[in-house]
Amino acid sequence: MEVKTSLLDNMIGVSDMVLLEPLTEDSFLENLRKRFDHNEIYTYIGSVVISMNPYRSLPIYTPDKVEEYRNRNFYELSPHIYALADEAYRSLRDQDKDQCILITGESGAGKTEASKLVMSYVAAVCGKGQEVNKVKEQLLQSNPVLEAFGNAKTVRNDNSSRFGKYMDIEFDFKGDPLGGVISNYLLEKSRVVKQPRGERNFHIFYQLLSGASDDTLKKLKLDRDFSKFNYLSLDSAAVNGLDDAANFRTVRNAMQIVGFMEDEVQSVLELVAAVLKLGNIEFKPESRCNGNDESRIKDKNDLKEMCELLGIEQSVLERAFSYRTVEAKLEKVSTTLNVAQAYYARDALAKNLYSRLFSWLVTRINESIKAQTKSRHKVMGVLDIYGFEIFEDNSFEQFIINYCNEKLQQIFIELTLREEQEEYVREGIEWTNIEYFNNAIICDLIENNQNGILAMLDEECLRPGTVTDETFLDKLNTICAKHQHFESRLSKNSKFLTDHSLPHSCFRIQHYAGKVLYQVEGFVDKNNDLLYRDLSQAMYKATHSLIKQLFPEGNPAKVNLKRPPTAGFQFRASVGTLMKNLKTKNPNYIRCIKPNEKKASHIFTESLVRHQVRYLGLMENVRVRRAGYAFRQLYEPCLERYKMLCKRTWPHWKGPAREGVEVLMGDLQIPTEEYSYGRSKIFIRNPRTLFSLEERRRECLQDLATLIQKIYRGWKCRRQFLLMKKSQIVVAAWYRRFAQQKKYKKIKSATTVVQSYTRGWQARKLLRELKYQKRCEEAATTISAYWHGTQARRELRQLKEEARNKHAVSVIWAGWQGAKVRREYRKFFRANAGKKIYDFTIQRIMQKYFLSLKSNMPSMSPVDNKWPNRPYLFLDGVHKELRRIFHHWRCKKYRNQFTEERKTVYEEKLEASEIFKDKKALYPSSVNQPFKGDYLEISKNPKYQKLSSAMDEKVLLADVVNKINRANGKGTARIFLLTKKSVVLADQKTGQVKTSVPLPDLDSVSVSTQSDGFFALKLKEGSASAIKGDFLLSSEHLIEIITKLHRTGAMAADREQLNIDISDEFLVQFKQDKVCVKFIQGVSKNGNNASCKRKNNRLLEVLVPSSA
Ligand SMILES: Nc1ncnc2c1ncn2[C@@H]1O[C@H](COP(=O)(O)OP(=O)(O)O)[C@@H](O)[C@H]1O
Ligand SMILES: [Mg+2]
Repeated sequence: MEVKTSLLDNMIGVSDMVLLEPLTEDSFLENLRKRFDHNEIYTYIGSVVISMNPYRSLPIYTPDKVEEYRNRNFYELSPHIYALADEAYRSLRDQDKDQCILITGESGAGKTEASKLVMSYVAAVCGKGQEVNKVKEQLLQSNPVLEAFGNAKTVRNDNSSRFGKYMDIEFDFKGDPLGGVISNYLLEKSRVVKQPRGERNFHIFYQLLSGASDDTLKKLKLDRDFSKFNYLSLDSAAVNGLDDAANFRTVRNAMQIVGFMEDEVQSVLELVAAVLKLGNIEFKPESRCNGNDESRIKDKNDLKEMCELLGIEQSVLERAFSYRTVEAKLEKVSTTLNVAQAYYARDALAKNLYSRLFSWLVTRINESIKAQTKSRHKVMGVLDIYGFEIFEDNSFEQFIINYCNEKLQQIFIELTLREEQEEYVREGIEWTNIEYFNNAIICDLIENNQNGILAMLDEECLRPGTVTDETFLDKLNTICAKHQHFESRLSKNSKFLTDHSLPHSCFRIQHYAGKVLYQVEGFVDKNNDLLYRDLSQAMYKATHSLIKQLFPEGNPAKVNLKRPPTAGFQFRASVGTLMKNLKTKNPNYIRCIKPNEKKASHIFTESLVRHQVRYLGLMENVRVRRAGYAFRQLYEPCLERYKMLCKRTWPHWKGPAREGVEVLMGDLQIPTEEYSYGRSKIFIRNPRTLFSLEERRRECLQDLATLIQKIYRGWKCRRQFLLMKKSQIVVAAWYRRFAQQKKYKKIKSATTVVQSYTRGWQARKLLRELKYQKRCEEAATTISAYWHGTQARRELRQLKEEARNKHAVSVIWAGWQGAKVRREYRKFFRANAGKKIYDFTIQRIMQKYFLSLKSNMPSMSPVDNKWPNRPYLFLDGVHKELRRIFHHWRCKKYRNQFTEERKTVYEEKLEASEIFKDKKALYPSSVNQPFKGDYLEISKNPKYQKLSSAMDEKVLLADVVNKINRANGKGTARIFLLTKKSVVLADQKTGQVKTSVPLPDLDSVSVSTQSDGFFALKLKEGSASAIKGDFLLSSEHLIEIITKLHRTGAMAADREQLNIDISDEFLVQFKQDKVCVKFIQGVSKNGNNASCKRKNNRLLEVLVPSSA
């Protein structure tokens, strides 16, 4: 719940002067002092904020404070400038009312600070975003720039604004800032050339000299030493708490943020430097022959440097300081200037230069911060104008400043009273008029068009003839003599003739804020604000762009013979515009009060404050405010605040707030003349009534607090108790559950045990029964089996007995029948009939046998092994014999089919089989190969024609063989020919016979047991062929060659057969030596063919690849 606070809470003194009781000046001051002593620097008079300058920083401007005051009602919290800023901002944003914040008070009262606080508050609470933040930043950063150029240390204030400033901040419909416009009023330019004692020139001069880098100073031709410049007062060059160097950096930074270009900043600094240089130009008198004094520049160095800075021809400026040209109706008159005039001209130039620079700065800043959109803006104006000033010597500036304050007071009176009146009308309350001092009469004295002081000053200035300050005073003395607020020794008003506090050269005005004595000296000059045309023209000739811009009237093409408007006239006009502007806005007042003259914290100088309270008309303000009713409040917050004072409204009032308040007031028995009901507010006439209400409320609050405490305590205890009760139930429940669970588990396990025993017992009983039953059944089965067996056997016996009996009967019967038949027919049978029957039977059986054999004959294939089964045992021999005969017959039949040639082939194959079967591994592969004999077709092939003709016998076999060379085991191809008589080896290519061995000379042939094709032809020892030695050959058709050799050899030689020696190691006779040929299994280099290799003289090794 939000805690509603009020400014009435924890009040120190009264936070709203309207509630002060009794209302006297003393009590007013006492209240201010009390609050000031407690650091409460803000106090309200209704909606006006009085601000006392604390002269030290208080922790009341933190972001937390901003949050605290944000969106709160004005009277909700203790008085603060933020409350006013918030009220103004919200009224602007939500009710679309343009606002102005009017900050008044004398110099050093805190106006500028207040304006900055308002701006920073508004910046903190209004919208956010990149663009908005930039605008805010630029608006805020315009302050340091303007303060550097427009503020100075005065005796009253170390940072006194020497110009009036009015800033319009523009917002869009959402309340986001869009930009702003700054107006400046009358810079106190006389300060540039002369400062009163204890005061300084404008800050920027000191800042530049302390803060700029050596480099920059060199460029500007400046020295860091203040004492080198005539325009800088020395007695207070350094000010406590002011760090000029740091401030210079701040200003440069601010200029950058606001949007000044680097070259613009440079130009500005050059102008500042030029002003300083200008001050150093000094003149000396020089007598002329015509008796006139003429001025000469003492030391031209400064002039030279200044001209260099501004790009002005030195001679031009020099001349401008020496002559004055007056143009009148196409006539030009030049007069020389004396020293005093030259100094006047110099200072006039410096002042103009500086004030125009300042105006240019404002224009330039405005250019940067002006709103970018053209949509309708809401405006909040903040006016921080110089305060009312009373110095020892008051001149034209003070007169102008005080006039401005006079106008502000006027507007304050007008608007406050009007506002008050309007509120009563709005709320339907009767209004009784209140007397107050209206300063309109003073304003009239100054600004009246016919006989106002300013009008007369202008008249004097424009008048031909000699015009001096004295003639002006004379004029005043005659015209204003009767005015109540004008006082002068020489006026016709005899009252002041003897007033010695009033010197002759002065006049005095009774301002609303007190009497001010003005020195009339300088009024005319300052109002004229004359800058000799020669100087402005010299400035216009400068090449420095900014300078040229600042002196447009120096343009010779635009010579204007009309006088420029006077300073007074200009000021009056701008004040008039300002007032008009302010009147269109909703005003919010901050009235600043200075507590002491020492700029010290904690000091409250009563007389000083009293004076300010008086001239600010604060008492009147309070009185006006209280004339009708001292206090007013909307019905809702009022009911909310006091509803506890009445039973009917406490704690809640259901109806409309106004009725609630009526009931409340009735119940509290407050006299009806003490209050009035407005449309939306209740108005309380007397502060006492409000305080009695507050008092009652406080008491009631205590009771309520006790009640709340009581109820709260009760509630807390009850809650504690209920919580404990609840916990106890939970704990108990859990415990019970646990106990029950435990008990249940115990019973459950016991039950299981009992159950298992019972079940076991039952099961065993059942088993026993079942077993008994089974035994019974088995016994019964056995018994019945035995019984059935017995029964069956008995039956079988009976059946067998019966069968035997029947058989016996039938045998006996047959025997008897046979005997009977035989006995009957014996006489008919011959003695050999039996034999005949027997023969017939045998014959029939044989017949049947042969017929069945005939139909079941096997095939004619000699290899068919099938033969029908033997039908009778006694035919066993016959059956076998028949089979043998049939086979022989079948073979004969088969053989008979063969031709002679095929027979030979088969005979050869047969012979090969006899020789090699199971002896040589090569044999099985040869079985399928037909023995072709003449592989070379020797008789047909023309290639072998010669060879064929050399043969006298028929060639039985012709093939190419390899003759193995004993020297290296390599083979040479030879044609191998076999005839009936001899073996011939011939050259393969030529067909020439190499060797011919007659068959009878062959002794034996040796081959290996393996799958190779090597064979050795061994010759008979002693034969004619043996001289050449044995042959070791190899052939693909080994089996065929050997078989044919074997057959032919046997046929040719009349001897036994040729010996065939099958062994893996045999000797071969080569010419003289015997060489052993050895066959071993292994990997041959010829792949699948065997290869021969000579191992040594006595060993040839043949590698035979394993047949696997
Ligand atoms: N609210 C404040 N808190 C702390 N110091 C303040 C406050 N208002 C003013 N001052 C001090 O008083 C000095 C003068 O205030 P300033 O606003 O310049 O006066 P004015 O503009 O009325 O002449 C400031 O420099 C500052 O030191
Ligand atoms: Mg100021």
